[in-house]
Parts: sequence; C-alpha cells; structure tokens
Amino acid sequence: MPTKRLVILGGGGFRVPLVYGALLGSFVDEVVLHDVDASRLAAIGRVLHAQAAGVPGAPAVRGTTDLTEALTGADFVFSAIRVHGLEGRVIDERVALDEGVLGQETVGAGGIAYGLRTVPVVRAIARRISLVAPEAWVINFTNPAGLVTEAMAAHLGDRVIGICDSPSALARRVLRALGLAPGTAEVEYAGLNHLGWLTAVRQGEQDLLPRLLADRARLGSFEEGRLFGAERLRALGAVPNEYLHYYYDQQALVRASLAAGETRGEFLLKQQRECYTRLTAPGGDAFSAWQAALGQRNATYMAMEGLGERDDAEGGGYEDVALALMRAIARDEPTPLILNVRNRGTLPELDDDAVVEVPCVVDGAGARPVPSTRLFPGGADLVRRIKSTERAVLEASATGSRALAVRAMASHPLIDSVPVARRLVAAYQERLPELGYLT
Ligand code: G6P
Ligand code: MN
Repeated sequence: MPTKRLVILGGGGFRVPLVYGALLGSFVDEVVLHDVDASRLAAIGRVLHAQAAGVPGAPAVRGTTDLTEALTGADFVFSAIRVHGLEGRVIDERVALDEGVLGQETVGAGGIAYGLRTVPVVRAIARRISLVAPEAWVINFTNPAGLVTEAMAAHLGDRVIGICDSPSALARRVLRALGLAPGTAEVEYAGLNHLGWLTAVRQGEQDLLPRLLADRARLGSFEEGRLFGAERLRALGAVPNEYLHYYYDQQALVRASLAAGETRGEFLLKQQRECYTRLTAPGGDAFSAWQAALGQRNATYMAMEGLGERDDAEGGGYEDVALALMRAIARDEPTPLILNVRNRGTLPELDDDAVVEVPCVVDGAGARPVPSTRLFPGGADLVRRIKSTERAVLEASATGSRALAVRAMASHPLIDSVPVARRLVAAYQERLPELGYLT
C-alpha cells in the first residue's frame, strides 16, 4: 500500500496520544499535527515521542501551525478542534447555569453556544480541505459532532464522517451485560449525535433486549442501566445514549451542578493547565504525566451526573472507532460502525442532508447507512426538534443573524423560552469574542 498520511487538526489536544497509540503498528506512516497553539503542539509532541520510542515502524510525526501546509498531501484528516479551548467550555456551561438551564458542553444552551462559534471555523477548514486535499477522507470529532459534521458536509459531501465513542460503547456494554462477546449480535441504534436509542439486540430471529430489560441484576451491571434505572428503561423499551440523561433529568442535573460549585469544564480547565505545565517541564516524564491526567479525566467522567467510576478497561474509545473507520476505507474492508453521516433516506423523519448517527457499513467508497435502520418511536419528536435547532444554528452562523441565534436557543426543549434565549445570547456574546459576527 502507498504511504498514508494522517493530519490531525487540534494536534495539540489532550486526546491526541490516544489516537497516536492506536496508530502504532497500523497502516498509517506519517502523522502531521496542526494546531493554532505552538506550545500545545510541542507539549503533545513530547508525549508522542515517548510513545514511539522503541516501536519499530512508528508513524513519523511533525507539527505545524500552517493549515495549508498541514493539509497538503493528506489521505485522512481528523478534525478535533476546540475553538476558544476549555475556557470556552467553561463559558458555555457557566452562562447556561447562571440562567438556570443545563450547563453542558454539547447539549442545550452550551452546545448551541459552542456550535455558534465553531461552525464558521469548520466551514473555513472544510473549504480549505476541498481546495488543498479534495481526495482526503475527513473524520470529524469536533463537538457538537453532528452539527459540525453537517456544516462540513455542505462543502465536503460524504467525504466527511463524524464519529463519537458513545454509541459503540453503549452497544459493547449492553452485549457484555447480556453475556455476549462483541460482534456476536447485531445492535439496532439510531438518532442524532448524543441523542440516540438502542432499540434491539438481534441474534438470528431473536431480539435479546427484552431479556435484558426484564433482568434487574443485569441492568444494574452497566453504566446506562444504572444511569436511567430499571423502571424507566422498561417503560421506554429501549436503552438511551448516556447523553439523554441531560434531557430526562435536567432539573436534577442543574441542581447538582449548582451544588457542586464547579462545572466539568471548570474542573478540566484546572486539571489540563497543570497537565500541560508538566508536559513541558524540562526533564519531566511527559508520558507518565499525560497518563496520570488521562486516568483522572476518565475516572471523573460524568461523575457529577452520578455515573460512578467508569469501567473502560475493555478499551474501544473514540480512537478505536477512528482507526476502524480509516482501516475500512484504506483496505476497502466492509466494516459495520455507528457513524454520523448524511441521512440519505434512512430515517423518514428527517431530510436527506440531515446528518444522523446510525449504523453504517464502511468500505473503500466510504460510509453508507444501513437502510433498515429505524428510530425509537418515543424519540422521534425530540430528534426532529433538535434537528431544527441545529438547522437554526447553521443558518444563524451562515447569515450572522443574532435573531436566528436567539431563535435557535428558544427552540431547544431544554430552554424553551424567548426571554431566556435572548439573555443567553447576550451573555454569550459578552464573553465570547468569536460570537461578535452575530448582529
Ligand atoms: C464523551 C463524548 C465526547 C465528549 C467527551 C467529554 O467521550 O462522546 O463527545 O467530548 O465525552 O469528556 P470530558 O472528559 O471532556 O468531559
Ligand atoms: Mn461524543
């Protein structure tokens, strides 16, 4: 196979070593890290250097702050950027909480603010990719991932594919709770990113999900089972993605965040600042410092939401989804994966261009949604509503209309109020200079 080059946008990001670790021993020969912040690039470069030590054939790594230079010659582009960094996440979450609505980076007011400042940036990136590397496959991790993938698809078509670890992790946990090995049953799942439901576990003619829902002990054995509780899961007849917790339990979560006195973003901002200081300290062991920070980050994931310690010993994080996706394309090996792609008639509730998160088959021609996919009927209204909020965000960013940004906020079911939406947009604009384009 000819040499393969992967370009990572947001190359100074904390999770980049996870991606690089997954690439060791793979078909990727060269990794180009791009970031707007050279010091973060240098810090992460040190971790990658330590990871590659003594590994024969480890992909070569170089870093640059020049986007065109980075993209030139790319076979794959990963986009994992965070506009305004974790400081931006703190603002997304805190401004929302101050208004008494959910403060979360991808859901509700926070997700809309994050989308409004990210979409113009990713549109410019997508345009640059279409000029400089029109043949490249683009894998989007940038959150809010569904919305961002849809913005990029307007320029890149089906060459951009959005990924998230949560659907495959849910599927893996449900199979394990049923005592099944990964890949031994087919999981039915559909929705939008961070807004989907697992509706069946098929083995031949049988659906094993009712067996799981009837078994309290098995339901207590995995994350989503504990998060949503047996009664609710039975009433639903489906297992929601963990992010549905923010919709089903907003009031309790707002109270918990206010009581905690610190949002996830505020916690991570401190934790990550310390980590990057350590990564650049002369003579320090960058890899151990990174690993310790990763362990702490994983152990505290959704802690405030009552998740408890996460059991991720089995691996299978987003880096594995990304690698499986690239491998399927590069080797033209048909591979089933749950991905964010354009609907193309799959879910009749949404139009063809809507980016949805659904089971796909990936090969050398890209990702195609599995046509038999069906949405959880009890989730259809919410999915339609959130897609129309996303569309308002996309339109507000394309036109620079503050009125549309207010409409996007007001249309979200976790906000559902024009006066609150107006105050939110004003408060976000005051604190985020990237939203100055909304007039
Ligand atoms: C999951 C989600 C990602 C999100 C991350 C946040 O992995 O799928 O979309 O970025 O959680 O984790 P954090 O440690 O930043 O709170
Ligand atoms: Mn995600």
